[in-house]
Amino acid sequence: MLNIRIEKTTNPKPLPAADDPLKFGTIFTDHMFIMNYETGKGWHDARIVPYQPVVLEPSAMVFHYGQEMFEGLKAYKAADGRVLLFRPDMNAKRTNNTNKRLCIPQIPEEDFVDAVKALVKVDAAWIPTKPDTSLYIRPFIIATDPFLGVRPSDTYQFIIILSPVGPYYPEGLDPVKIWIEDDYVRAIRGGIGEAKTGGNYVASMAAQLKAHEEGYSQVLWLDGVERKYIEEVGAMNIFFKINGTVITPMLNGSILPGITRNSVIALCKEWGIPVEERRVSVDELYEAAKNGTMEEVFGTGTAAVISPVSHLRFQDHVLQVQDGGIGELSQKLYDTVSGLQRGQIEDTRGWVVEVK
Ligand code: PLP
Ligand code: COI
Repeated sequence: MLNIRIEKTTNPKPLPAADDPLKFGTIFTDHMFIMNYETGKGWHDARIVPYQPVVLEPSAMVFHYGQEMFEGLKAYKAADGRVLLFRPDMNAKRTNNTNKRLCIPQIPEEDFVDAVKALVKVDAAWIPTKPDTSLYIRPFIIATDPFLGVRPSDTYQFIIILSPVGPYYPEGLDPVKIWIEDDYVRAIRGGIGEAKTGGNYVASMAAQLKAHEEGYSQVLWLDGVERKYIEEVGAMNIFFKINGTVITPMLNGSILPGITRNSVIALCKEWGIPVEERRVSVDELYEAAKNGTMEEVFGTGTAAVISPVSHLRFQDHVLQVQDGGIGELSQKLYDTVSGLQRGQIEDTRGWVVEVK
């Protein structure tokens, strides 16, 4: 059990009003978790303190070479008052996979989960309860050595902040329009695409601006070598239902291994729906849209949950997915995943963890 010192704020902020739309990622709670690392000493001084600025030297390595990682998960309040997390052990595992790639020290999985639980417990009053709202949890690690040479840092801070949120996309569960990018590339195999680190997101911004200007809400990335095969969306993994089979790009080293993706694959298999994890080309999508076998397209992610896609644009072609509405499977997955997360559906898979 991680030993955490708790210093509560003497100046709590007002909670958001009941009718606040909780625009994603704009409001922060009263407290944050911090733990330091130093080579030779390991992770130490775990504490929960009032939410406050982080003070770093301008020479801190994170500012120069991007040695940082982040995670994203959510806490929910069930109707009976229980506070629930969804598969936090998977975020702990992915943290360590990311850390390995970025030369950041490992964090014991149970310490990661203990830290998340302890902070959520302190700020549990901030968990919103309206439909489609939750408390977004953002753990992250930054390299803090004051040094300008390129090497892994010897000191780090692991920080967790919390943000009460509504839907990630203003569209909510309404279908989004997606832009297939054939000029910019997000990641290549052997690079850092499967790590959850800021570098992947800054690499995505220029294309995202371009897509927004054209009226599309997200970018769908192609592989960086042939620019032919589908990878993932800016903040989601992507699924296609073609002729009764659910197809998603296989994890090839340049795609983030999504926890929602993993859960959706498991649910579809339980429901007897054939699932294929493999390469999917843009040509195959064209063909399926043309011959009427493209039944559904949806993205999956912690922030986005299940997000139906109505249109895909590639170069000058627009593929419309069926009538542009919410597909039957997308709706069922949304209801099931969010029902489990909110304790409305009984958890038989050990996915839901209560914060006590
Ligand atoms: N792909 C990217 C690039 C993401 O940022 C996210 C969000 O975390 C996902 C996929 C979905 O991952 P998860 O389901 O674990 O949230
Ligand atoms: C998440 O779903 O947790 C994400 O990381 C999306 C984020 C980039 C807002």
